[in-house]
Amino acid sequence: MKIVIFEFEEWERPYFDHFMDKNDVIFEQAPLDEQTASKYQDADIVSVFIYSDLGCPTLKQFKQLKFIATRSTGFDHIDIPYCTQKGIKVSNVPSYGENTVAEHVFALLLSISHKIPDAVNRTRQGNFSQEGLQGFDLCGKTIGIIGTGVIGQKTIKIAKGFDMDVLAYDIEPDTIAAKKLDFSYVSLQNLLSQSDIISLHVPGNKETYHLLSNPEFSLMKKGAILINTARGDVVDVKALLQALASEKLSAAGLDVLPEEPTIREESELLRSLFTEKHNLETLLADHVLLHMKNVVITPHSAFNTKEAVARIIQKTVKNIDEFCEGRPTHLVN
Ligand code: NAI
Repeated sequence: MKIVIFEFEEWERPYFDHFMDKNDVIFEQAPLDEQTASKYQDADIVSVFIYSDLGCPTLKQFKQLKFIATRSTGFDHIDIPYCTQKGIKVSNVPSYGENTVAEHVFALLLSISHKIPDAVNRTRQGNFSQEGLQGFDLCGKTIGIIGTGVIGQKTIKIAKGFDMDVLAYDIEPDTIAAKKLDFSYVSLQNLLSQSDIISLHVPGNKETYHLLSNPEFSLMKKGAILINTARGDVVDVKALLQALASEKLSAAGLDVLPEEPTIREESELLRSLFTEKHNLETLLADHVLLHMKNVVITPHSAFNTKEAVARIIQKTVKNIDEFCEGRPTHLVN
């Protein structure tokens, strides 16, 4: 079979070694998109990371694609209904590092609460002044967790370690976990109006698109803080800017942004200026956020620890193995 590994990095090569004997394996550093798909139309299996764009225009170029193994939990970069219709199976890595992303939530939150980016910039310049660096305790604050799957629950466990009160909202509440971890489910409205800090842990899909927009921000406590490690489109970024400008929100910690791949790649940014594909207003809002002092942004790196990426690649290789053996697992369609 022809297997193409997109968004390939050299350190991943040994993990794919054992496919070499029986298959034609191609390593491609570029993401899979409309352009790169045209080079590999005869692929049987592709593996991608999150910066690939597996929409219909990309997918329809493949003549015999049978299986997509994404090296991620989220699969919002793949047109799943199209794959299902064409009989293309898709697997993800459902859990590889709930602790990794949950730890990153607190990296963002502590950066805000202790003003770490400002403090570090200052000491690097030899300035040891305390002025404007007063932060706040997490202990005793209420954190609202939206989405109580594996990452949401790990975030709750860590929050409990900080002696925080936890409120949660999920379309499918896990009452056993609520009892075990000692947290309460409330309506989304109550969570928004009662939380000092709100952390998002839902998947990116049609239902969660702009889950937080103007009406939701207006319900929040004045001075609330938003942490988003889920997906950029879960938050209406223009509404977020307004909430920050009006000081409804005092700060935000974001690992994900809408239009994130466009911001990441200058060539993609340039291309977006000439196409209808990207929302330039959203892109502009992203750029404003990047320069706000009370917004801490990381480049979708919450997953990126040595341990977690090793687990992702091992589990992806296993997904491909199991598909080739006729007993696929971790299918999302
Ligand atoms: P999960 O599937 O275990 O949990 C998701 C939870 O969200 C479920 O409990 C589900 O019932 C709930 N949910 C779904 N739709 C909802 C809605 N409309 N309203 C309220 N709750 C809803 O997923 P997991 O592993 O906890 O990951 C969550 C998300 O985190 C992933 O889908 C992915 O987008 C993101 N992620 C981000 C990473 C990063 O590097 N920043 C790395 C890994 C995941």
